[in-house]
Amino acid sequence: MRFENTIEFAKKSDDRDVLREFRKKFFIPQHNGKDAIYLTGNSLGLEPRTVSRYVQQELDDWAKLGVEGHFEAKNPWLSYHEIFAKQLSSIVGCLPSEVIAMNSLTVNLHLLMVSFYRPTKQRFKIICEAKAFPSDQYAFESQVRYHGFDPATAIIEVGARDGEHIIRTEDILSAIKEHGDKTALVLFGGVNYYTGQYFDIPAITAAAHNAGAYAGFDLAHAAGNVELHLHDWDVDFGCWCSYKYLNSGPGGVAGAFIHEKHFANNDLPRFAGWWGYTKQTRFQMEKGFEAIPTAEGWQLSNAPVLSMAAHKASLDIFEEAGMDRLCSKSRSLTSYLLFVIDEINAIGNGKAIEVITPVNENERGCQLSLLARRNGKAIFNELSKQGVTSDWREPDVIRIAPVPLYNSFEDVWRFGAIVKETIGRI
Ligand SMILES: Cc1ncc(COP(=O)(O)O)c(C=O)c1O
Repeated sequence: MRFENTIEFAKKSDDRDVLREFRKKFFIPQHNGKDAIYLTGNSLGLEPRTVSRYVQQELDDWAKLGVEGHFEAKNPWLSYHEIFAKQLSSIVGCLPSEVIAMNSLTVNLHLLMVSFYRPTKQRFKIICEAKAFPSDQYAFESQVRYHGFDPATAIIEVGARDGEHIIRTEDILSAIKEHGDKTALVLFGGVNYYTGQYFDIPAITAAAHNAGAYAGFDLAHAAGNVELHLHDWDVDFGCWCSYKYLNSGPGGVAGAFIHEKHFANNDLPRFAGWWGYTKQTRFQMEKGFEAIPTAEGWQLSNAPVLSMAAHKASLDIFEEAGMDRLCSKSRSLTSYLLFVIDEINAIGNGKAIEVITPVNENERGCQLSLLARRNGKAIFNELSKQGVTSDWREPDVIRIAPVPLYNSFEDVWRFGAIVKETIGRI
């Protein structure tokens, strides 16, 4: 498509957008009586208008039925989590039995590391991306220490080369090769939170397996943002949160994927709880844990139905929109954003904004991380003042994410117009 940096072009593109009606399904925060330009779905997705109805259903059933709601509610609470299996499996690309909505993200990361990080004297290293999200770094460090190893020697971080922002796949693969015989686990983000780089999950997984290690991914910035095929890529495990692209509300219930090839492996250690126990005999309340032979077997506790109701409201919208259509719009919208930024950079003397996210659409989702050469914080502040919600990451990056469910080409054009005017002025 030939792009133009004009409001007419943006509006025409919105008219042609087959997903344009989906924006109406969300509450758009207001700024001075108008829709804000909300570009932070990578941090907290917007609230679907249906959430209150879905939550109210459970509140009403609770009021009406009390404990009987576990069986008699419209969506019985005993099995509430089961309604996510199909919808989540189409978002992350796996079998319904391989996915489970439970807990929160860092908790799931720990639980899955209990199963898949089993260091020995010979194999104890974790290979990960440098500058992984801090919670992941703390999880890695504490797991390593828990097993009696030293993070300084057990954690191998692969970073970008000097003067570069993106971690080259070849460098990841060669680190796996170099440390292979000492590596227990290769654990990367799906999409890096800071740069927006979408890692080559199949290549990293294959290299980890070649080295005799497990491969796991933190998909916080990938789930609902990019196409995933976790089952076919033979990934061992993954986990994600639901409050970013999955729009399920602050601290909403998270998700986990475990490849089916691990279901029958009784040697895999895990921390167990009653909700992971075989359903047929769970309520006999006997000693001796017997896991459900699917991803459900990693559950600990009964389902947090109120937050799951918000998740359900959002996933119903995802199902209606379909990941194929979402990813297709996402590619156009973010390509348009790149075009608008190029136009801004063509003005004046030199490039004002460096996009540190890969430009290649197979190596990113919708997020772009922008490094302003001058006055980054002032540009960010001006954006906020003029009703653009973006986010600032120290030391010098503005992250923006036009998400296909509720952002428009007009949002992108307006963002560009404000940046252009601000750069010209300060
Ligand atoms: C990549 C990544 N990992 C982990 C977390 C922490 O998530 P939680 O607080 O839900 O455990 C976040 C939160 O934004 C994140 O972006």
